[in-house]
Amino acid sequence: MRKLTMMTAAAALMAASTSVQAEDVEVLHWWTSGGEAAALNVLKEDLQGQGIGWQDMPVAGGGGTQAMTVLRARVTSGNPPTAVQMLGFDILDWAGEGALADLNIQAGLEGWDDVVPEALQQFAKHDGKWVSAPVNVHSTNWVWANKAILDELGIAVPTTWDEFVAALEKVKASGKTPIAHGGQAWQDATVFDAVAMSTGGPEFYKKAFIDLDEETLGSDTMKEAFDRMAVIRSHVDDNFSGRDWNLATAMVINGDAAFQMMGDWAKGEFLNADKKPDTDFLCFRFPGTQDQVTFNADQFAMFAQGKEVGKEQAALATAILSPSFQSAFNVVKGSVPARTDVSDDAFDACGKKGMADLKAAADSGNLYGSMAHGHANPAAVKNAMYDVITAHFNGEYDSATAVEELVTAVQINK
Ligand code: BGC
Repeated sequence: MRKLTMMTAAAALMAASTSVQAEDVEVLHWWTSGGEAAALNVLKEDLQGQGIGWQDMPVAGGGGTQAMTVLRARVTSGNPPTAVQMLGFDILDWAGEGALADLNIQAGLEGWDDVVPEALQQFAKHDGKWVSAPVNVHSTNWVWANKAILDELGIAVPTTWDEFVAALEKVKASGKTPIAHGGQAWQDATVFDAVAMSTGGPEFYKKAFIDLDEETLGSDTMKEAFDRMAVIRSHVDDNFSGRDWNLATAMVINGDAAFQMMGDWAKGEFLNADKKPDTDFLCFRFPGTQDQVTFNADQFAMFAQGKEVGKEQAALATAILSPSFQSAFNVVKGSVPARTDVSDDAFDACGKKGMADLKAAADSGNLYGSMAHGHANPAAVKNAMYDVITAHFNGEYDSATAVEELVTAVQINK
């Protein structure tokens, strides 16, 4: 896995040496699966329609860890890309280094302050300046299910942890794989986001992952969350290690597995395979998190390269924030708009639910940044948490040890 990552990074660096024309945007991103590529095409075509060329710089690896490594190397070598897909705290870190273009002129002219939700502005603005253009809102506490398998086995949508475990047992007894999972650190952490929220509730989640409260991190509730991860581990197939997330989604699409716990980018894969919500697949919140949303938002930050924001960078930001793009892109991507004034008319049942859930969670104070996707704490803490969660998932730590290691990891890295 590590070897693959390095190869991907090296290939991306080589690709970077191809020349970029003045009116081109060079976009570093990690949207490489079928559904993600289909969504990205909506953006490419929008810009091409304005006469702006697109230099693609994909860096495979869900969650963006590899993309951020390549970005660091590009910036260090004095050759940053024009625009970069980024999440939460990474944006604030780069803005703190003074690397990002000021988008206040576009934001002012287009009224971004009035339409982008506060939860996103926290990560899109630094020192009062807009430094990134929000593309969407994803959330991580979803379950994707193969409807035919559930119907055949008489499984109703589970609403509690106990019902979920009973459903997993039923699938196991039928000989199918209960949970499609890809054993990569960011995927383990994505599952943990939902399991921790369900086990301890929103206050627990906030105290542990956002406030980094030691007592909560070291609590019995955290141990219980790790115990539940072990239950999940006992319901994945033998070949899960290193599997890409979209291949896990394909297992659900093809009827090889019943469930996948994954952010709503998974919906893009179902749609790309011509599958329909409520007919072929079901989307529901992880049991016990029906009222909460753990969100992440993709944004594009523009590297200033010591200059004013470039014409093509401004055009990219404007294109991203336009209401028609927000609808067209997010319908394909599986996410929901980063603006509050976009109609849900074009969205399918899961998209409509995603939009309604986001609004309800924001209104009731149940919207929390995703730990797994860089919206709860900076990369150093996030990566240290990943290590513990993954070591436990792979049986290197029992739950009690994992709790101790989590506390230590946070103490060292925060
Ligand atoms: C991003 C999504 C992406 C997913 C898997 C997440 O961190 O926010 O846009 O589809 O990773 O690659």
